[in-house]
Amino acid sequence: MRNFNLIPPIFILILFLAALSCEKVYLTEPPEIELDTTVVYSFADTIQPIFDNKCINCHNGGIPPNLTAGNSYDALINGGYVESDTSKAEQSLIYTKLLSGTHEDRATANEKQLILFWIKQGALNN
Ligand code: HEC
Repeated sequence: MRNFNLIPPIFILILFLAALSCEKVYLTEPPEIELDTTVVYSFADTIQPIFDNKCINCHNGGIPPNLTAGNSYDALINGGYVESDTSKAEQSLIYTKLLSGTHEDRATANEKQLILFWIKQGALNN
């Protein structure tokens, strides 16, 4: 019975550690798909359709970044939304934005992962 007294402090400790290791905490559901290194993720065929379906209602020129076809790649790269150092892909604003606050539900977990994989492969205009 005495062990029950340990549960609240342990729970608080876990919450505290989780809060400290921000990068590891998924604000939404955890990733559902794995990076398949045999696949090259295409900006035109994989990423732009996500923007077309989920983003360009709003991001069509007025609110940066402009994610419409033909403009999106330059807007992301020149606007600093993508980390060019692929080891820092997770810190890219286009990705972190989709994990937080207003944008958490704007894309599915899979769509967020695809964007991340595309960045990890060097954010090519492919
Ligand atoms: C309903 C409108 C709406 C939709 C849909 C939307 N956004 Fe946004 N987005 C905004 C607004 C408004 C802001 C600026 C305020 C803020 O940062 O939340 C913003 C900000 C951003 C920013 C940060 C811009 C900056 O310079 O700090 C990024 C990145 C972004 N959106 C990406 C996306 C992506 C990717 C999608 C689609 C998956 C998307 N947004 C869908 C309205 C929208």
